[in-house]
Amino acid sequence: MSFLSVENLSKKFKEVTAVDGISFSLEKGEILGLLGPNGAGKSTTISMISTLLRPDTGEIMYENTSILKKPKRIQAQLGYVPQEIALYPTLSGRENLEFWGRAYGLKGSHLKNRVNTISEIIGIKERLKDKVKNYSGGMKRRLNIGAALLHEPELIIMDEPTVGIDPQSRKHILDTVLELNKQGMTVIYTSHYMEEVEYLCNKICIMDKGLIIANGTKDELVQMLNDRKKINIKVDQVNDKVINTIRNLKNVDNVLHEDTTIKVTMKNYKQNTFKELIDRLSEAQITIHSVAVNEPNLEAVFLHLTGRELRD
Ligand SMILES: Nc1ncnc2c1ncn2[C@@H]1O[C@H](COP(=O)(O)OP(=O)(O)OP(=O)(O)O)[C@@H](O)[C@H]1O
Ligand SMILES: [Mg+2]
Repeated sequence: MSFLSVENLSKKFKEVTAVDGISFSLEKGEILGLLGPNGAGKSTTISMISTLLRPDTGEIMYENTSILKKPKRIQAQLGYVPQEIALYPTLSGRENLEFWGRAYGLKGSHLKNRVNTISEIIGIKERLKDKVKNYSGGMKRRLNIGAALLHEPELIIMDEPTVGIDPQSRKHILDTVLELNKQGMTVIYTSHYMEEVEYLCNKICIMDKGLIIANGTKDELVQMLNDRKKINIKVDQVNDKVINTIRNLKNVDNVLHEDTTIKVTMKNYKQNTFKELIDRLSEAQITIHSVAVNEPNLEAVFLHLTGRELRD
């Protein structure tokens, strides 16, 4: 049995099917990324796992217990970081953390110690006395995360925790997630930034229109496109004849040229096609300055599966 598993989960809002019968699982100690564009169904999915929303169909098992039947089982062990910042702007950072700590049942010196530990982890210790309304966007995001960590959860679910912040705060948050994970925390991380998910996650579910359209490790996902490579060749000169020759090679999908760069898309990357490509160029007395073979990324996987870009 997995640490957490979701089976045939779905949720409709009137005529909108937000989540359409998805299944996935994760093991203790993993970082699972839910990657998808706006409206994909990410927040709805994690709201159901966090017991904030009841699914129409499906089952969610947490350490062998149905959380639909026993929601308390996951609630005590879960830190949930909402997409919308849930803080009191007129209270200080410390007062906000204390508020959330009390909501989780912490008190006295234990609460005080936890607030101190957490403010160090999220890097706001020097600003604890300041009112949250005077915090930068990045600091608010960090405090929002801190609020979910006070009760020492074993699983943290983060809903796009880096939206609208500066690169430095973003880096801080990503590295905090990695550090928490190193200390044993299991993480579900939703994002529409491919780079974040690539940086953090061992396992990735790509969501679109309520469905999981691909699921695996980053390497497994990219493997799907591994034979569709793009090759950029910088040369000293180009002519139509040689472009046509390349275009007619087996396994070549498309050829473009910009100035003296020839861009070849291969639909089925084979070493011998690559060799032929180079041979045809040298037969045409063209000097090759450089060759770059571009590895596909998650953006390319999404584009391949949906015909659309991941981000608007
Ligand atoms: N409470 C609700 N009432 C009606 N429709 C909703 C509600 N919550 C979500 N939806 C709809 O369900 C779909 C999925 O929304 P959801 O918020 O889960 O997507 P998301 O992947 O989190 O998107 P985003 O990246 O914009 O946060 C969308 O079409 C959304 O408009
Ligand atoms: Mg969302």
